[in-house]
Amino acid sequence: MCGIVGILGTEPVAGRLVEALKRLEYRGYDSAGVATVENGSLDRRRAEGKLHNLEERLASEPLTGRLGIGHTRWATHGAPTETNAHPHMTDRVSVVHNGIIENFKELRAELLAQGVTLSTDTDTELIVHLVTRELEQGHDPAVAVQHTLRRLEGAFAVAFIFRNYDDLMIAAREGSPLAIGFGDGEMYLGSDAIALAPFTDTICYLEDGDWAVLTRNGLAIRDRNGQPVERPVQKSVASALLVDKGNHRHFMAKEIHEQPEVVAHTLANYIDFAESRVLLPDMPIDLASVDRISISACGTAYYAGLVAKYWFERLARVPVEIDVASEFRYREIPLQPGSLALFISQSGETADTLAAMRYCQSQDQRIASIVNVRESSIARESDAVLPTLAGPEIGVASTKAFTCQLAVLACLAVAMARARGKIDGQKEAELVSALTEVPRHMSAILRDEAIYDSLSHTLSKAKDVLYLGRGINYPVALEGALKLKEISYIHAEGYAAGELKHGPIALIDETVPVVVVAPQDEMFEKVVSNVQEVAARGGQVVFISDGSQSAAGCDVMTAIQLPQTHPFTTPLIYALPMQLIAYHTAVFMGTDVDQPRNLAKSVTVE
Ligand code: F6R
Repeated sequence: MCGIVGILGTEPVAGRLVEALKRLEYRGYDSAGVATVENGSLDRRRAEGKLHNLEERLASEPLTGRLGIGHTRWATHGAPTETNAHPHMTDRVSVVHNGIIENFKELRAELLAQGVTLSTDTDTELIVHLVTRELEQGHDPAVAVQHTLRRLEGAFAVAFIFRNYDDLMIAAREGSPLAIGFGDGEMYLGSDAIALAPFTDTICYLEDGDWAVLTRNGLAIRDRNGQPVERPVQKSVASALLVDKGNHRHFMAKEIHEQPEVVAHTLANYIDFAESRVLLPDMPIDLASVDRISISACGTAYYAGLVAKYWFERLARVPVEIDVASEFRYREIPLQPGSLALFISQSGETADTLAAMRYCQSQDQRIASIVNVRESSIARESDAVLPTLAGPEIGVASTKAFTCQLAVLACLAVAMARARGKIDGQKEAELVSALTEVPRHMSAILRDEAIYDSLSHTLSKAKDVLYLGRGINYPVALEGALKLKEISYIHAEGYAAGELKHGPIALIDETVPVVVVAPQDEMFEKVVSNVQEVAARGGQVVFISDGSQSAAGCDVMTAIQLPQTHPFTTPLIYALPMQLIAYHTAVFMGTDVDQPRNLAKSVTVE
């Protein structure tokens, strides 16, 4: 996750760009840079490391342009060097970029074949060359950007400035946020409203697929089909990070929508995209020697662990013992000294998880944790910490922390499988490529929520809702049920679909909606036959699948079609409909979505 800013100013902008970048430093800080247009010419300054290095560079070699873009980087493709720092530029155009370009290898090969000289290892440099090629063909900047955007796959945000255009900036958003600010004869853009707070409180947010042409006196936004669109202009309350809900009514909605970005950011921390392999930070634990894992966590974090059990066992062939921390801590489990004990927690302060961890410490286990809050007790007391880079999660019901936990666990499973010689480089590249596609698929799901809204009207009338899934998506069904009961207060249960006929089927009649998680994987046919058992008893099926509705082989109440994905990554993808069903139902019912009754964000008591 990187931070982007841009200013079309009436005075030189470099100082203010750096000021805005400081407010985005939480998004990335391994290098930074600014570029401006002055008397029609592009120029830039960049520096490795923290922002004060860039400030020093600008003090000795000032930029005085009144139009500029800036960037603070968290490296994805290419090391955090000055050469790889943004803005990237040719003699015609300069760009800052946040996110991942998935088809980077194809675009790189194409440009190299056309004789373009590339000077960095970044995916961003490809964007400037694609735009430059369009400009060389005689297109104006807006058309050049529009043509280029059509070539880019992935979840990203970009901002461009151009040689000979002293009053033009073009920005686009596909999965990563971009806010546009309105000033007095000035315009601004930033990755969030916080960056723009010193300059303006009047902002609008681009939506996915939007691209915007900014001049000092105006803004024209077009959607992905090139149609002019208006986005609501609002007063931002960005003075404090924690009270900013962006364009959303609730923190939970904001956090659901942040997932393409924060999952990409988290993956970027564990994947070398250029080499298509997982690259874990240095760990004092030898993954090759791990022959047994015990996982312990609570609630949603426990379900992330349950998904990981399937990944670790199937890919790395390591047996996994998993339990909710409140049971684990008292079970007095015999543990073999030197085994790996893994703890998953958003807050890093959950009392039961911490107690389970301390039990494992007393049993000479090697302790690894996956936490979102880096300074937390669980992180501090672990031998190895694998952070989720989800950013602050405010909504009590966990959403983005869950998918980021899954992203880290998936990477850990791949790394362990490779270390134990259970997968080869080709298989690793296949799995990494599947993970790389996740943010884009998430964006596609979040683009249209109408179906969840209409489904909420039916679900709000239900007294009980069942969730079914099999295999790796059984925990996703459990998570779906947890989300619904937490925020809508409707009774919901998740079951392994194969268990249906061992009891829960007795509950089914025409008043019971049954949400079925049914990706077209090896379990699909079995799930479908469970769906038919439900339908035959009058159950109201909500069929969530990448297959068509007809694949269910029976009448369903609602079919939610998801993008086709690799079976490995389906839990990350199918988590989103689970969250959206719960969110829209709760909103329709008027409950307190962000602070549901009786719940606390961080459960620091037993
Ligand atoms: C559910 C939820 C809780 C937490 C659980 C563990 O939406 O948020 O179930 O997942 O309380 O919390 P952490 O992850 O902070 O240990």
